Parts: sequence; C-alpha cells; structure tokens
Amino acid sequence: MIKVGILGAGFMGNMHATVYSQLPDVKIGGIADIRGEKAKSLATKFKTVPYYDPEQLLNKEDITVIDVCLPTFLHKEYVIKAANLGKDVICEKPIALTVEEADEMIEACKKNKVRFMVAHVIRFWPEYKYLKEIYDSEKYGKLKSISMRRISPLPTWGWQDWLLDQERSGGALVDLHIHDTDFLLYLLGKNPEKIYSKVVKREDGLYSHIFTTFTFENLIAFAEGGWDFPSNFPFEMSFIAKFEKAVVEFNSRNTPSLVVYESSGKVEKPTFEAIKIEGLEGNIEDLGGYFYELRYFVDHVIHNKAFTVVTPEQARNSLAIVLKEKESADTGKEIIL
Ligand SMILES: NC(=O)c1ccc[n+]([C@@H]2O[C@H](COP(=O)([O-])OP(=O)(O)OC[C@H]3O[C@@H](n4cnc5c(N)ncnc54)[C@H](O)[C@@H]3O)[C@@H](O)[C@H]2O)c1
Repeated sequence: MIKVGILGAGFMGNMHATVYSQLPDVKIGGIADIRGEKAKSLATKFKTVPYYDPEQLLNKEDITVIDVCLPTFLHKEYVIKAANLGKDVICEKPIALTVEEADEMIEACKKNKVRFMVAHVIRFWPEYKYLKEIYDSEKYGKLKSISMRRISPLPTWGWQDWLLDQERSGGALVDLHIHDTDFLLYLLGKNPEKIYSKVVKREDGLYSHIFTTFTFENLIAFAEGGWDFPSNFPFEMSFIAKFEKAVVEFNSRNTPSLVVYESSGKVEKPTFEAIKIEGLEGNIEDLGGYFYELRYFVDHVIHNKAFTVVTPEQARNSLAIVLKEKESADTGKEIIL
C-alpha cells in the first residue's frame, strides 16, 4: 500500500484522484490546492484530507508519493521540492516548459534517488498501444507513413486561464500537440532527421494550432494539434497509419474507434477493454489510458521496478523536439537535426 499526495485539484487532479480511488494498493493521503474550495470539494469526494498549502502536504511523512497535477509552469518547482523530501514523483505532461527546467528536475530526482515518471498518457492508451505493438511486431509489414491529429475547443477550464497564456502553458504546441510528438518518437524509437512546422497564433501570441511534417529515414509523419475550435466541436484524437500490408485508422469519435484495412481486402475491427468511471468530468469518454497509466505507475513503485514505458529522459526529449517545431514555425525554416 502506498500513500499518495495530489498537488492540484483541477481537471487532472480530479482525473488522477478518480483513478487512484479505483486502484487497490493506493490510498489518497491528501489533496492540496491553493484554491481552498477546490481542495475541499475533491478531498470530500475521495474521503481524504484537504490542504490549502501544498508545503504542508509535501511535508507529511506518511506520504511517500507526490502526484503533481499543477499548471506546467509550476512543475519544476514542485517536482524538485518533492524529490528533495525523498518522495517518489509522478508529474503531468509536459515535463516542463524548457529543456533546462527538465534537466534540473531529472537531476534532482537522480540525486535524491527517487522515482520519477512523467504522465504521457497516450503511451498507455489502448489504440496507441495497439499501434506500437503492430509496429514492433511488423504484423502488417513496415510503417510507410503516419498522419496524427488532436483537435479540441479552447481549454477554458484552467485556473486563472493559465492554459491560454503562452508563457505559462506553451500553448497548444507544448500542451496538447506534445502528446502526438511524444508518441511518434516512442513508436519509432528515434528522433526525426528533419522538422518543418507551421503554426496559427492568436493575436495575444498564443500558439493555438500547429502542423508539423517530420522526416525520418524511409518514413514521413505528419501531426496536427489545435485547440482553436468552437466550444461545440467534439474533441478528436486520431491517426491513419499506412503499413506495407494494411492501413490502420483510429478516430476517438468513431465506433468502432479503430479499423484495420488489410491489402488482402480483409477488414479487422479489434476491440479494446473500456474502463468507465462513474461521475467523471472531461471530454474523453474512455478513460482507459489514465487508468492503465496510473496502475502502471503504482505497480512499479510498489514492486520497485524501473519505469520502461516512459522515462524522464524521453519526456525531456519530446519537449526538446516540440521546441524544435516552435523554432521551425518561428523561423519559417526546416530544422535539420
Ligand atoms: N494528460 C492529459 O491528458 C492532460 C489533460 C489536461 C491537462 N494536463 C496537464 O495537467 C496539468 C494540470 O492541468 P489542469 O488542466 O488540471 O489545470 P487546472 O487549472 O484545471 O488545475 C490546476 C490546479 O492547480 C491549482 N494550483 C495553482 N497553483 C497552485 C499551487 N502553487 N499549489 C497548489 N495548487 C495550485 C489551481 O488552483 C488548479 O485547481 C498541466 O501540466 C496540464 O498540461 C494533462
């Protein structure tokens, strides 16, 4: 049994608390939020202790794991605080806003010999896991091209609208689109050779929609990520992967979500276990990914196993690549890595 302290009772704090409440071997030891009413209502819902001062929760000795669900610009500060107190840490993605911050976080966790995982949930999402499995096994031959997409209405739920502040969130580029960049790098196990990006910016400087072409040896990948759609637009995450012997199409808005069109003419519709959690807010109905991610984290902490699905260095690398996309968009040039 481990006791976890959650920092941040917003959108992701609620999501993580809901998942922990469904897992054996983990107890929520407290939830901290500077907005007292948020901490109180989430703590009441999950029958735990609210804290208004995150330091108080961090300093509780019986809490050995800290889950950082704070706005991204606060990740570095709180991951390092938790590490210096000897706590294992899970932190929401993106790891940080700059590579330098990410390096300091990784260094602090290493120095204090604590475990550190960045919550790149897409690596645990059933349809994306399926893609990784068939890529690795070459069930349908080699991957020739892939197009990925993630589009959503403007995220207006954040505390003090931090998500709409380029300086505090990195905009759709660093906050939303990193999901696909990170998954692509994980899928292929390498960085691209070239990156070419175009971005739509709001008047206030927020990077709200990004289009990137990644060139790898023998493979072209394209990813689009945007959150500048109207509030009635249903969230979509999707990909079309062209293998030598099949096309795999996933769209979170379709039923079934994933279809394999084999070159032989056969059509396959793999099914995935859907984990529904009652009473959960959010725009994604199937919460499988969050459940699998946190189950993996808890299991690996309890059994003292190394994290292999996502390492802090990989999360840092994904951030570095997303920042190269920014550089390409800003300079209008293709970046050669
Ligand atoms: N994996 C995903 O699919 C996913 C989805 C959404 C957000 N995220 C990430 O999760 C993180 C949190 O995002 P969110 O959407 O939950 O934001 P949010 O604004 O809904 O929640 C953040 C909470 O932190 C609280 N807070 C601010 N400063 C604090 C402090 N110093 N101490 C304690 N509490 C403080 C705020 O009051 C707020 O309730 C971000 O890094 C974001 O990128 C990930």
